[in-house]
Amino acid sequence: MSDFQLTTETQEPAFETETKVIYQWNYDPEVEELRRLYVKAAEAQWVSERDLEWDRDIDMELFASTPMGMGMPLEETTYWKGLPDETRTLFTRKTAAFRLSNFLHGEQGALMVASQLVNAVPHTDAKFYAATQTMDEARHVEVFARYIEKLDEVQPIAEPLKNVLDATLQTGDWLKKLVGMQIVVEGLALYSFREMRNLTQEPLLKDLLTYVARDESRHHAYGVQYVSRCVPQLDENRLRDLEDFALEASRTLIDARSSTTLFTAMLEIWAAAGMDVGALLASAEKELPALTAARGPKRRLGPVQGFVIPTLRRCGLLSERVARHYHEMMVANLSSSVAGEDVDEFLSRIPDLPEDTAAWVLAELQEDEREMPTAVQPSA
Ligand SMILES: [Fe+2]
Ligand SMILES: [Fe+2]
Repeated sequence: MSDFQLTTETQEPAFETETKVIYQWNYDPEVEELRRLYVKAAEAQWVSERDLEWDRDIDMELFASTPMGMGMPLEETTYWKGLPDETRTLFTRKTAAFRLSNFLHGEQGALMVASQLVNAVPHTDAKFYAATQTMDEARHVEVFARYIEKLDEVQPIAEPLKNVLDATLQTGDWLKKLVGMQIVVEGLALYSFREMRNLTQEPLLKDLLTYVARDESRHHAYGVQYVSRCVPQLDENRLRDLEDFALEASRTLIDARSSTTLFTAMLEIWAAAGMDVGALLASAEKELPALTAARGPKRRLGPVQGFVIPTLRRCGLLSERVARHYHEMMVANLSSSVAGEDVDEFLSRIPDLPEDTAAWVLAELQEDEREMPTAVQPSA
């Protein structure tokens, strides 16, 4: 242990946050649904070392089934299909390492936000629940780091994600923390975990994501239950402020510039691994319009329309004012054929939140949920 140091090369400089601390002297159950969720969380604790088979090698042949999640069907281009199996496996591995790294860094953000919530939320039941989530997130950081180490190497955090985590950590408003983390970030994560877990055939990854997604569905439930309890108590200004915080976080994570940032980072990683990215882009530019058109009008809604917005509506955070902004954002990102011609059509396409999110996350994907929206133009 001689190399132990107080300051390490891998840490970032500390920054100030406005997080406040609240003592609560009433220890009796008060928010019953949160007390129940806390008990459920305590019962559902698992242990990475005991419950996952880490000795097992990653099965690279099965791993090839892991979805790329690049927002467009690159796997179907002639460039991709023409690659030798080994090269395709290498690029799939690099892609997954990039996505999993952002899950990993997001988990670290969640770990720190959850621990802040222990201090900042005013109800005992909510403090108890946040404590169990803190434990869950530590385990998630642990298992993603370990899996990526087995698979490839950890890639740096994507800037848009870092910005949202920073804003959520920095705000002094605990309701904004819940909305930023439990509703927006964890809503998006849950949607991605669900897709990856359902499609990957790699056993260790599938097991790991099953455990993680179960925990995440509880974290999301915490946000929904607590925030929807609080919203009717808010005055107009605070409500507006909270809606805007959710909108801003969603925008940062999914708008076209962020998608371009992510895609550019991915291209750099692929190029470093030996891909002729020019050839990929040329092939994509030529073939994607036809590939997308061949799928017909039935398009998957994507994580914001399909999950985050339904959650906000359930929480009472989707006023007509903010719905208009979401509609504009979705038109800019997905075109009006997916988003709807106007706000009314947009709202009519927003599905209900699943009654049982844990069951939803573990259920088989429907055929039309397997398609990725074309969020990024390859030439961008
Ligand atoms: Fe997590
Ligand atoms: Fe979480």
